[in-house]
Order: sequence, then C-alpha cells, then structure tokens
Amino acid sequence: MIILGLETSCDDTCVGLIEVDERKKAKVKILSNLISSQVKLHRRYGGVYPLLARREHRKNLPLLVKKALMEAGNPRPDLIAVTQGPGLEPCLWVGVNFASELSEKFRAPLFPVNHLEAHIYSSFIERNLDFEEVFPALCLIVSGGHTQLVLTKAFGSYRLLGETRDDAAGECFDKTARTLGLSYPGGPAVEREAAKLKAAGKLAEEFGLSFPRPMRNQKNFDFSFSGLKTAVLYDYRSRSKRVQKSKKYIMAAAGEIQQAIIDVLAHKTLRAAEEFRVKSIILGGGVTANKELRRQFKRRQKKELPAVKLIMPDPAYSTDNALMTAVTAYYHWLEKKTPPKGVLKAEANLKLGK
Ligand code: KG4
Ligand code: ZN
Repeated sequence: MIILGLETSCDDTCVGLIEVDERKKAKVKILSNLISSQVKLHRRYGGVYPLLARREHRKNLPLLVKKALMEAGNPRPDLIAVTQGPGLEPCLWVGVNFASELSEKFRAPLFPVNHLEAHIYSSFIERNLDFEEVFPALCLIVSGGHTQLVLTKAFGSYRLLGETRDDAAGECFDKTARTLGLSYPGGPAVEREAAKLKAAGKLAEEFGLSFPRPMRNQKNFDFSFSGLKTAVLYDYRSRSKRVQKSKKYIMAAAGEIQQAIIDVLAHKTLRAAEEFRVKSIILGGGVTANKELRRQFKRRQKKELPAVKLIMPDPAYSTDNALMTAVTAYYHWLEKKTPPKGVLKAEANLKLGK
C-alpha cells in the first residue's frame, strides 16, 4: 500500500511517499521525502509571513508531488494524507485543496491529519509502533506554535494535561534569538551559540546571567515562556553596546536560554510521566531536534524513571515533514478503514484531545 502525504501548515512545503505492508503493522518503507524550505525567504521578516508562504506552497507543492512520484517510479497512491490543521489557514488550504484534487485523480481515499498528532508519531517513521508496548504514553509536543503535554492511553485517545499559556517553546527560541541578533529560525541558531560555550567555560557567571524557569515548580502541567522572553530582552537592553555585540555575551545568553527551556520541559514532562504511570514518554516537534535537550532528557529519564521508555524522533523528522503525516494517516487507516465523509476543510485551530 502506497501513501502520499502532504504538509503545508507553516513555511515548509513537504511531500512524503511511503510504502507499508498492510499485514505487518507500521513496517514503513520511505520512497521519497521532499521538503522545500522557505527559511531564506522569511528570514528578513524574522518569522513566517503567511501570504508569502501560501504563494510558495502553491508554486512548490505540485512540483514536489510530481518529483516524489517520479522518484518512486510513478506508482498510483492508495491513500492521500494531508495536514488539516492546526497551522496558518492560507497555507493549510493549499495542501487541503491539492490533496482533494489528487484524491479524485487517483481515486484514493483522503485522510485528514492533525499536525500535532503527526508530531507524536514522527518517532515511528523508522521504528515499528507496537501499541501494546508504548501505551499509555505521555507525549510532549514542542514546536514553533505549540507546547503541550498530552496523555495517550491508546492510539487515537488524547487527553490534554497542560499547554503553554502564552508563547510556545520554539517561539521563545525564535524570539530570544531575534533579540540577540541571531538568524531565523532561532532554535538552531541558539543551539549553535550555546554549543560554543563548552570551550568557553562558565560565561553565565562572568555576566551574572540567570534567566527564570517559568512555572517549573507549579503543580499543574501548563507552561509559560513569555516571561523568559521578556527577561532576555531586559537583560540585553541593560548591557552596553559593546557587551551586546560581544560573542561571549551572546554565547552565554544563548546557553542560559536553552538551559532554562530544557529545565522546564524536562522537569514537567518527567513529573507528569511519573504521576500518570505511563510506559513511555514520546517527544515530538521541532524543538526536539535540539541535541542538548535530547541528551538531558535521556540522562534524567535514566536516572529518575529508568522503567519508562523514552522515545524521540530522528532529529531529521523532529521538524515538519510529510512522512509523519503519511504514517499517522496509515495508523488511522489501520484502525478504521474509511476516511471521514464530506468535503475536507482546513482547520487553523484544530485541537488534539480535550
Ligand atoms: O515542528 P516545527 O518544525 O514547526 C511547527 O510545527 O511549528 O517546529 C519549528 C520550531 C521553531 O520554533 C524552531 O526554532 C524550533 O522548532 N527548532 C529548534 C531546533 N530546530 C528547530 N529549537 C531548538 N533547537 C533546535 N535545534
Ligand atoms: Zn510542526
């Protein structure tokens, strides 16, 4: 069975083609994985400009689908998967409309996919998902638009335990990077600067830097990152022009920002995993590409919850891609062979769980 996945929820146009063996659950063969990044285009705005993104999706999506199919020897897809939401509405519509056309053309059923759910299953693109072994699971979704802790008792059942009350973790990386004069997207830029710290030593102390860990010690499972963003801005403004431009200060601030975000995410995720006695912790979303975050989650899980499995996507699949869209649709197909009836609509505010 061949599944064609489309993802256009934000600034990357993504097309993925997978082949699955219907008898063996989640034995996925990747036939094509194409991503046309718009990073350079949006860099001058320091973020994503939706109408520009839509124009690029319209231009690139048909070309990428053609290329993906060609790479695989032009097979006829048996199922079309598309991100329905959440995301930027004008961008989502490009994917939904084109997927509907493809579904008619190939007479293949059209499966809408929740982008947050797809981030959860990004870890299973290259690994078999054994429902019995994995669930109940505690999922942390950390992307540019979301920071959520979701309890998954079984495939398709989601309970939202907590989420950010303001900025998402990825957004905090992006905005603080901008304050420091680093390029968009901020996550990888902050990570690069922070990584240089190892050689430079304890610069945070030299600059007297200590950023807040918002809501870390509160009993709920919510997050808040706007206070951290503001603290970084105030610290930056309090420095002389010379310090603001110094490589050392930027490295030190980047290291502190990254550590503050990791501290909060790891602490709350592990606490929730313990409280809800899950079998596994599943991480997903662009921020999970961060090497230091991965290293610290692994270290803490081994020490604090050794019986719980920690499942993280391959860093290449942490950020947006359409393989995860295709894989998620496949799981839905396995559960319930028919797609939802009616005309498919983009849902910019689509939720996961209650
Ligand atoms: O999942 P994603 O590709 O798109 C959304 O669904 O939002 O996540 C993008 C976010 C951006 O905020 C970006 O700065 C962040 O993920 N990100 C990172 C890293 N790579 C991407 N954050 C921290 N460290 C990284 N290496
Ligand atoms: Zn995403």
